[in-house]
Amino acid sequence: MDQKQLENEVNKRRTFAIISHPDAGKTTITEQMLYFGGVIRSAGTVKAKKSGQFATSDWMEIEKKRGISVTSSVMQFHYRDKDVNILDTPGHEDFSEDTYRTLMAVDAAVMVIDSAKGIEPQTKKLFKVVKKRGIPIFTFMNKLDRDGRDPLDLIAELEDLLNIEGCAMNWPIGMGKELKGLYDISNNRVELYRKDGDDKYLPLDENGKLPAGNDLEGEGVYDQAVGEVDLIKEAGNTFDIDKVQAGNQTPVFFGSALTNFGVQTFLDAFLDMAPAPAEHKIQNSDEIVKPDDPEFSAFVFKIQANMNPNHRDRIAFVRICSGEFDKGMDVTLQRTGKVMRLNNATEFMSDQREQVKTAVAGDIVGLYDTGNFQIGDTIYSGKKAVQFEDLPQFTPEMFMQVQAKNVMKQKSFHKGMQQLVQEGAVQLYRTYTTNDYILGAVGQLQFEVFQFRMKNEYNCDVEMNPIGSRTARWIDPEQLDPAMSSTRNMLVKDTDDQPLFLFENRFAENWFANKYPDVKLTSKL
Ligand code: G4P
Repeated sequence: MDQKQLENEVNKRRTFAIISHPDAGKTTITEQMLYFGGVIRSAGTVKAKKSGQFATSDWMEIEKKRGISVTSSVMQFHYRDKDVNILDTPGHEDFSEDTYRTLMAVDAAVMVIDSAKGIEPQTKKLFKVVKKRGIPIFTFMNKLDRDGRDPLDLIAELEDLLNIEGCAMNWPIGMGKELKGLYDISNNRVELYRKDGDDKYLPLDENGKLPAGNDLEGEGVYDQAVGEVDLIKEAGNTFDIDKVQAGNQTPVFFGSALTNFGVQTFLDAFLDMAPAPAEHKIQNSDEIVKPDDPEFSAFVFKIQANMNPNHRDRIAFVRICSGEFDKGMDVTLQRTGKVMRLNNATEFMSDQREQVKTAVAGDIVGLYDTGNFQIGDTIYSGKKAVQFEDLPQFTPEMFMQVQAKNVMKQKSFHKGMQQLVQEGAVQLYRTYTTNDYILGAVGQLQFEVFQFRMKNEYNCDVEMNPIGSRTARWIDPEQLDPAMSSTRNMLVKDTDDQPLFLFENRFAENWFANKYPDVKLTSKL
């Protein structure tokens, strides 16, 4: 395509992830969006896939058991004039560093909150990573059809717990059985609950009031909503698109994904405000790569192994940062300088894997990989070498001691471990005293994948002993004194030989901080 077409295509892309705590409604709202995008005919399809009904034969064993599908890792649809990519951030027991890394590949995030529960732990963890990136975050307060918490409280909690300004774009008129609609501040209208088509919307007059004789006249919940809207207009945060773009203010929308109420309003507003693909910084330089730069560049943010147990292949998920991807194109892998032809790639549709035809900056493609790629790798076309910044390291929260079951298998044990660690499947530490191997992860799935792959790819059974969930804190090597170590604050070093303590709990960490006030304890992201 020519430059103008490329610019047009890139500007149509909107790439985001949904962050939420399990059960807040991420799947349900995703389905509604896919429905608006015409990808599925009715809600319930993705969910059915979760339960295994749509399981196809070529998923990795663990995937099969858990029903994780590569096809739901990235969902793409066209809506209005936009091409939308939703990247899945697995939760529950599927939570892993990949969940965090996926957030490195998006330009915006949607935070779904259960309005009865408010901000929950997993939302908080994911939020922290998104906030650090400084990308826009949009909030959907879900499950309005049930009795939830006071909306004013929910907004205040954003500021109290997440340290981000919340700015209400619409406001619930009632809740649970009393739910009547939404007072849509940004569109100056009321959206009625359980109405369809144009009947659904009642325009407000210039004073923000409904004309006389409307459906909500005399409803106490309506008067209350108007009172609260007046209050937030006066005392709440003023909408500021610059703050939104910088991730310092989150526009808040209320609704009910299950009853498809307020979702389209949200999607419309979100797509208006969400940014087109961002530029990317070159490592150790002030240079940037613009998305409409004609030369192709991309980075690997996730590697999924053994999709097909018969062919040991892996899929490297890459985010395109500039230019256009063409099947069969030659690219250079910056880390090794190797030139490779990208013949086999997958674009992600929600229902089936399709061979990629054209993808541009903002899109995600899956490249079949025989072991060439590592997480964080940059690939590029053109003569000028490109290397994007490293992906951040994340602080692991659970740890396992690991060894080969059979001592005769040391060689394959070391080889497998080295490769899997390099690939970013798990993190590796060694104890100072006994040189034991300790694996670190953010989710249990990472250990299971590690164990599975060690056996399947390196023919090595491993024995893993949990040492529990711990808090990892790095220290300056200059300040290291082996006497500081005990079972409650295990001293280990990482693969860069940097020392860190694995504290048994917060109490152990505080005790340490009091005993050694001059030792600075730091965490990764
Ligand atoms: P998740 O992906 O974030 O884990 O959440 P998911 O969408 O699977 O939703 C979790 C549960 O919450 C589901 O119920 C879903 O139907 C329900 N839910 C989602 N949005 C709403 C909403 O707006 N209102 C109400 N009342 N419920 C909502 P479930 O019983 O666990 O599953 P299912 O068997 O009903 O599908």
